[in-house]
Amino acid sequence: MQTPWEYRYANRTQRMGSSVIRELLKLTEQPDIISFAGGLPAPEVFPVEEIKQACIYVLDNFGPQSLQYSATEGYRPLREMISRHTGRYSVKVTPENILITSGSQQALDFIGRVFINQGDHVIVESPTYLGALQAWNGYGAQYIAVPSDENGMMVDKLEEALRIGPKFIYVLPNFQNPSGTTLSLERRKLLVELADRYGVPIVEDDPYGQLRFEGDHLPSLVWLDSQYRGDNGTYTGNVIYLSTFSKLLAPGLRLAWVIAPEQVIRKLVHAKQAADLSTAAFNQMVAYEVAKHGFLDEHVKVIRATYKERRDLMLEMMAETFPPEVRWTKPLGGMFLWGILPEWMDAAELLNEAIERKVAFVPGGSFHPNGGGTNTMRINFSYSKPEFIREGIARLGTLLKEKVAERK
Ligand SMILES: Cc1ncc(COP(=O)(O)O)c(C=O)c1O
Repeated sequence: MQTPWEYRYANRTQRMGSSVIRELLKLTEQPDIISFAGGLPAPEVFPVEEIKQACIYVLDNFGPQSLQYSATEGYRPLREMISRHTGRYSVKVTPENILITSGSQQALDFIGRVFINQGDHVIVESPTYLGALQAWNGYGAQYIAVPSDENGMMVDKLEEALRIGPKFIYVLPNFQNPSGTTLSLERRKLLVELADRYGVPIVEDDPYGQLRFEGDHLPSLVWLDSQYRGDNGTYTGNVIYLSTFSKLLAPGLRLAWVIAPEQVIRKLVHAKQAADLSTAAFNQMVAYEVAKHGFLDEHVKVIRATYKERRDLMLEMMAETFPPEVRWTKPLGGMFLWGILPEWMDAAELLNEAIERKVAFVPGGSFHPNGGGTNTMRINFSYSKPEFIREGIARLGTLLKEKVAERK
């Protein structure tokens, strides 16, 4: 049935759509499917007891305040904590440089709202985070896709893209979603230098940086930028940095933060006022209570150990069961790895057959803003318990071998 609303959609609504992943996530609701499709953290590592205790503490001690409307910028003690933490690991920032958002996804939307005019160009990696594309499509962004390899964005191809005059560069340096790759130190430095030379700022999206299983931590772009400019660890403002509690505590809290110059924070605050007035005060206070005595430093070790075990098992099973025609990345952290099928194989078609065998992944095509990548797939290793990883990868391996054999 047609409704009177259908002829009244705004132009931007044309470019809005449900993400392939959200659609696929519905599959995970079918209990018999082993799904490597979602980007879900392991529920086993959610600190349920600590959050429960913190809820009680907050209600006992700050009941009315926690249930009241609150400042759009976010709960001050939480912002102070984040600024101390950032100063310890990266650049020095003040709470005035920090906005708490309802997830990083909201921050991406606000960045689109505040910066992107219809037709503006944004440089992204190809593949890149689908949620960013979804957020910015509605604002009319055009994407300049810079290819990436196992060391992240191929920064040597960036200059050509920078000459087009983009609004900003969007990059995920650590254990990228979807590819699981990490931008090498050399490329990070070159990226910061090129961005500076062309006067184009950077949005650094870093939800997984703390989830490193092996190798040395690499400095953030925001820090490298301050070194490059000789500001020696003081925030310069050329990089907007995003991170989130979704992967450190629990995504259901919908808590994340943006680090940006004060002037930009003020604009983002206006966007947030229009969108939802503020992030839930109760959730912010609970997260603060959980985290204030250093709990996250310990908790993140548990997350790393759990995900490392799952990644190792997945890699082992892939080596055992996948045909030699298929390649994959070996991420040093995070939640995803990336499969590269033979050129002739279409991952979306493969998914249909995989679903019949009760296993799911995300075909990689939709992560490529300007097309391509139809023979790639994103596989999540954080969510499934080991016995499901073993079984699910074996099922995929059998299917892949059959496909390769059929072709021969
Ligand atoms: C790269 C990236 N950015 C942002 C987000 C959104 O995270 P949040 O739960 O904080 O909204 C995700 C979630 O998977 C992500 O992978």
